[in-house]
Amino acid sequence: MKILVTGAAGMLGYALCPILLEQGHQVLATDIQILTRDIQRLDVRDLKQVVDFCGFNAPDAVMHLAAETNLELCENDVRYAYLTNTIGTRNLAWVCRDLDIPMVYISSIGVFDGTKSDPYDENDVPNPINVYGRTKWAGEIIVESVLKKYFIVRAGWMIGGGEREKKFVALIIQQIRNGSRQIQVVTDKIGTPTYNVDFARGLTWLVSSKHYGTYNLSSGAIVSRYQVAQKILQVLGRSDVVLIGVTSDSQYIRDNFPTLRPLSETMRSIKTATLNLNCMRSWDVALEEYLKENYKEDIVALGFDAKLGSKKV
Ligand SMILES: NC(=O)c1ccc[n+]([C@@H]2O[C@H](COP(=O)([O-])OP(=O)(O)OC[C@H]3O[C@@H](n4cnc5c(N)ncnc54)[C@H](OP(=O)(O)O)[C@@H]3O)[C@@H](O)[C@H]2O)c1
Repeated sequence: MKILVTGAAGMLGYALCPILLEQGHQVLATDIQILTRDIQRLDVRDLKQVVDFCGFNAPDAVMHLAAETNLELCENDVRYAYLTNTIGTRNLAWVCRDLDIPMVYISSIGVFDGTKSDPYDENDVPNPINVYGRTKWAGEIIVESVLKKYFIVRAGWMIGGGEREKKFVALIIQQIRNGSRQIQVVTDKIGTPTYNVDFARGLTWLVSSKHYGTYNLSSGAIVSRYQVAQKILQVLGRSDVVLIGVTSDSQYIRDNFPTLRPLSETMRSIKTATLNLNCMRSWDVALEEYLKENYKEDIVALGFDAKLGSKKV
């Protein structure tokens, strides 16, 4: 198939595009910024650009990853967030309808309010509590109402992307690289980590199944940010770095991450389990693989001096 991927330069695109190519698909990789020669510029907010691009390239399917995923940016510029996450999604949905091709829209656990004591499944009704969540949910509603051949696939806490990673793992490692020996991490936020490589493979399996609809796709685990940070330090061999548990209402979190976030971002998938399509490995196994493949120079146990970035003698 000839597959248009939007947001291909992001964390998920980094894993998805090579997998699609490996499977023999032709990939039209696009993003608002051109990071490599394989990526063409396509701003999903611009309907004319989207229509012209698709008219010229005639894709057989669209995998719509493009989004503004920074919660603070979304909160501070609601118009920009809606244009990118909701109107951008509408533009792709309209084109898919007109070309009669399937669309995959990546949504988020952030569409839920985080008050449920059990993990969210596909039968739960979204009720977002911040701008990012609202823009993603609005995208879901548009996709469902415009298309019959669609997959809405919700991810949890995304891990992966190497240099393009900008979420939790990258934030922790950046602090260590900057020389921090005490790192503050929230203890009262729980979620379900989603390794982008496993998620990307899951997406391709789901799409080839042609069982259209809305899915949660995640490892199914329930862990806190603190536990994820502990695992990072363990894999990196950084016993010299101390984690300090803080709550969401601490000054540090309020200063650095002021946007309201759901207390629980845990999810499970009833549908992929029923279809026997769940391919997500345990989060800690996946995280270890990811760190060993992408952050070799930060692993003390392998004989590298993490601070100097050089091999120990
Ligand atoms: N990251 C997570 O924790 C997470 C969790 C659940 C769901 N998701 C969803 O998964 C999908 C992929 O996210 P990701 O983790 O790969 O995030 P990401 O790394 O931020 O990738 C999104 C990509 O879209 C690009 N983009 C932004 N505005 C655009 C526009 N107007 N037109 C075209 N491209 C644009 C971004 O460019 P810039 O970087 O230059 O803005 C970025 O390269 C998103 O739909 C996201 O909502 C992510």
